[in-house]
Amino acid sequence: MKVLVTGAAGLLGGRLATLLAARGFAVVALRHDAPTPPALPALTLDLTDQGALGATLDASRPDAVVHAAVLSRADECERRPDLATDLNARLPGRLGAACRARGIRLVGLSTDLVFGGERALSDERAAPFPLGVYGRTKLEGEQALLSADPSAAVARVALVAGRGHGPRGTASESIAWALREGRTVRLFADEHRTPVDPESVADGVALLLERGGAGLFHLGGPERLSRLELGLRVARVLGLPSRGIESALQAEYGGPDRRPADTSLDSARARQELGWKPGPLDRALRSSRLQPD
Ligand SMILES: NC(=O)c1ccc[n+]([C@@H]2O[C@H](COP(=O)([O-])OP(=O)(O)OC[C@H]3O[C@@H](n4cnc5c(N)ncnc54)[C@H](OP(=O)(O)O)[C@@H]3O)[C@@H](O)[C@H]2O)c1
Repeated sequence: MKVLVTGAAGLLGGRLATLLAARGFAVVALRHDAPTPPALPALTLDLTDQGALGATLDASRPDAVVHAAVLSRADECERRPDLATDLNARLPGRLGAACRARGIRLVGLSTDLVFGGERALSDERAAPFPLGVYGRTKLEGEQALLSADPSAAVARVALVAGRGHGPRGTASESIAWALREGRTVRLFADEHRTPVDPESVADGVALLLERGGAGLFHLGGPERLSRLELGLRVARVLGLPSRGIESALQAEYGGPDRRPADTSLDSARARQELGWKPGPLDRALRSSRLQPD
């Protein structure tokens, strides 16, 4: 199956492109500015260029598109809401329409940050309540994609831990890099997530590509834990000193975006309908890079 992966230079998108290729998909990496994995054939495209999107699909004729391109940094989304709206909210609808018109299977990626964090282990029926521009625009993007192409799937991915792609680190890598450099990391004891690794996300996306499945699917890891617990686990699993880890509370946070307390995901739908099984957290943490690429 020929699969076009958008955002294939991204922290998760780049890893997904590599992992889907390793699972036997003929992956074409869609690149913008930053480098995509060197082993994969790549096409360059600015996805905000509406005319070029259809032309690229017609020229490359993929069987499926995995849509991972995004404006993901919360602070940038708060500063540039128009760009966040165009990329995260409107583009998925245009892509949905373009794929549906061509009979191309579409799997879009979204985030646990569509939730406001007021309850643990949300499933797909739980009411979303995004607190910031990132979560709001991603939620609008999910809705636009699925209304343009009701046969498409959207995988809502939890906080990513384990091995990422490119210069930024996953949640576990950022902690590991700080501890190795002797920096202090302040981690919230009252912020809970279900971290998941790119390998498990690639398994879920592969199942959605091969078996079909329409609508929302949660892909969260097997354990719910706080950021502080995650940090201590990273230190233990990777044999790093934990003395640089400081406990903090969300109330002390002074950033521009509001942080949801608990966006842990219940992934029973993916487990039951797709047979998806996320890998163990310790395996994910062990695969973290010990320094940026
Ligand atoms: N990382 C996480 O912890 C996490 C957690 C939950 C869900 N997710 C979801 O997973 C997906 C992938 O996230 P990620 O971590 O890989 O994001 P990322 O690291 O921010 O990467 C985003 C990608 O989008 C590309 N892009 C941005 N603007 C573009 C444009 N105009 N045209 C074409 N490409 C453009 C970027 O390319 P350039 O850099 O070249 O501009 C980059 O490759 C997103 O849907 C995100 O919401 C991620």
